[in-house]
Amino acid sequence: MIRPVKVVEHEKFPGIYVVEYEDGTKKLATVNLAPGVKVYDETLIQHGDKELRTWNPYRSKLAGAIHKGITINPIKPGVKVLYLGVASGTTPSHVSDIIGPKGVLFGVEFAPRVMREFIEKVAVHRENVVPLLADARFPTKYAHVVELVDVVYADIAQPFQAKYVADNADMFLKSGGYIMMAIKAMSIDVTATPSETYKREITHLEERGYKVKEVKHLEPYDEAHAFVVAQKP
Ligand SMILES: C[S@@+](CC[C@H](N)C(=O)[O-])C[C@H]1O[C@@H](n2cnc3c(N)ncnc32)[C@H](O)[C@@H]1O
Repeated sequence: MIRPVKVVEHEKFPGIYVVEYEDGTKKLATVNLAPGVKVYDETLIQHGDKELRTWNPYRSKLAGAIHKGITINPIKPGVKVLYLGVASGTTPSHVSDIIGPKGVLFGVEFAPRVMREFIEKVAVHRENVVPLLADARFPTKYAHVVELVDVVYADIAQPFQAKYVADNADMFLKSGGYIMMAIKAMSIDVTATPSETYKREITHLEERGYKVKEVKHLEPYDEAHAFVVAQKP
C-alpha cells in the first residue's frame, strides 16, 4: 500500500477525500465500503482506521466532472441513487462508498454478462447496492423494486438518453432531487456535432420541466462528453 503525505476531506463534497503525495500530485478518493476489495485498477490506501480507494477521472465521468469543477454534487452520505448503466461498476463502486451504509444504490444494467461482472465485483461485497438486470428504457419493469430516490444518475450512452432519463426521473425522483447525466455525443448522434447533441439533450430535460443547473465538458478526461446536473422542481 502507498502512503500519501496528506489526506483531507474534499472542501465541498462530504464523503469524498483528496490525497496528496510527496511530489504534490493530488487524487480524489473514497472510503472503501468493502475493505480489501478492488473494483478496477484503483490504489488502496490505509488512512487511520479507514481504507481509501483512489478515484480516477480518466475512468469515471463523475470524478472527471468533480475535477472539472461541478459545484453541485447531491451524491453524499445517506442518499438513495437510481444509477442507469452501471456497467462493471467503476463509478457505481465510488457512489456506493460515498453514500455509505445508510444510502442505497439501485443499479440498472441491461447487458447480462456485464451485470454478472457488476454483481461479482461490486454488489456481493456491498449491502447498499441493489443490482437490477433491466432496460432503463422501460422503468415500469422495475417500479416494484425501486423506491423514491434523491438522485437519478445516468450513463447509458444511448440515442434519446435524455428522454429515458426524464422518464425514470418522472417516476422515481423526489421533488427537489437531482439528475446527473453523462452525455457521450458520438453514441447519441454521429451526424451532429457534440455541441448540437449536448444542446438537444439539455433542451429535452428543460422541456420536461427539469432545471439545468450545471453543464461541464469532460475533456481531457473523456473526449466529446458533457456532464449535466439538473433539478426536479
Ligand atoms: C458507459 S457504460 C457505463 C459506465 C459506468 N457508468 C461507469 O462510470 O463505471 C454504459 C453502460 O450502459 C449500459 N446500457 C446502455 N443502454 C442501456 C439501457 N437502455 N438500459 C440499461 N443499461 C444500458 C451498457 O450496457 C453499458 O454497460
